[in-house]
Amino acid sequence: MMSQEEVRLEYLWVIVVVSMLSAFIVSLVYVGVAKGFWTPEEVVTCDVKKLDEFIEPGIRELEPGVYEVNIVARRWFFEPGSTQPIVLENPRKIIFRITSADYIHGFEIVGTPVNVMIFPGYIAEVEWIPPKNLQGEFLVLCNEYCGIGHSNMRGILIIKR
Ligand code: CUA
Repeated sequence: MMSQEEVRLEYLWVIVVVSMLSAFIVSLVYVGVAKGFWTPEEVVTCDVKKLDEFIEPGIRELEPGVYEVNIVARRWFFEPGSTQPIVLENPRKIIFRITSADYIHGFEIVGTPVNVMIFPGYIAEVEWIPPKNLQGEFLVLCNEYCGIGHSNMRGILIIKR
């Protein structure tokens, strides 16, 4: 039989647990809605053996300030990104289209919400609207273990204003 005091403590802990869970859910909704941290927008399939037909590595300016950046990830570099930096002038919106030629890789632009897994056979499409004052050099990392060269698989994104 629980004493009056024990019952009171039980209720207290129920309230503590429920408030913590509520705080977690509220913070998740907040970063999603207010800060714009979203999951990848779209995933499209492609044939790894005929990558040329699906993706042409490089940067295309679709309209002023709107860039499409097509990237092929492979052991152990991003093209473009590692071979040469991705340089964008005054981007308003960046659409990354990324696929892998061999294995599962990651594509993370450190310090930004852009962070996606790259699967062979799929083109990950990520739309990013960088803050207007954001500029400089950004490190791009592979964050999925992809073999002996994984820790050196990186690239550079340069935003000029
Ligand atoms: Cu590519 Cu780790």
